[in-house]
Amino acid sequence: MMNDLFRGELTRLAAVDAEKMSKAWERWNRDVLFRRLLDNEPPTLWSAKKIQQWIEKELERGDQRFSFSIYPLDSERLIGFVELNVASWQHGNAWVGIGIGEREDWNKGYGTDAMRLVLRYAFDELDLYRVSLGVFAYNPRAIRSYQKAGFVIEGRERGALLRDGERSDVLVMGILHSEWEAQQGAMQEASGG
Ligand SMILES: CC(C)(COP(=O)(O)OP(=O)(O)OC[C@H]1O[C@@H](n2cnc3c(N)ncnc32)[C@H](O)[C@@H]1OP(=O)(O)O)[C@@H](O)C(=O)NCCC(=O)NCCS
Repeated sequence: MMNDLFRGELTRLAAVDAEKMSKAWERWNRDVLFRRLLDNEPPTLWSAKKIQQWIEKELERGDQRFSFSIYPLDSERLIGFVELNVASWQHGNAWVGIGIGEREDWNKGYGTDAMRLVLRYAFDELDLYRVSLGVFAYNPRAIRSYQKAGFVIEGRERGALLRDGERSDVLVMGILHSEWEAQQGAMQEASGG
């Protein structure tokens, strides 16, 4: 039987509904810790309307970008986003970004499960060669989650981030198509399939 591309063990990926997503982002943006784990931009407090306009524009950017909403399998509650950006079709390279918005949803396996879905999409569907990401050294939860999904640390940009007067490293992590396939094979073997 064919896999359902967009359903994992804990989460499902759905289309981005710009209105729903912008309301969620308006709330998530107020959590400065979330923003400081997520990216290196100064946290902003945009209105839902402005966020919606931004999302709508981004969604028009076409065939380089694959954006999804994350929902738990058993609920209609939007809990996060994940986005795959193809940097080069020629070389088969993409970057991925993920966020689970509410702290109470962290550490429940949702992020790793959704990441596995996007990796399956990247490798089985798009036939990419590698997927990369950047993560801050002070975010061990994210690093652990990415390692569980199969990423390895490939590099360290020393002191690339300045926060509250302190410099932190940014880690570059990556996973290759061949590593993904080996992991799938090992998981199938372990489950007796
Ligand atoms: C990063 C993120 C996507 C991970 O998703 P998640 O659903 O919370 O992660 P999971 O529950 O699948 O896995 C987290 C793992 O980290 C571990 N962990 C949590 N805190 C940790 C810590 N301080 N040190 C080491 N490991 C830690 C958990 O125990 C779990 O590992 P385990 O299953 O082996 O026990 C999510 O937490 C998130 O969006 N956080 C805020 C924004 C963010 O950091 N985005 C990523 C930017 S690169």
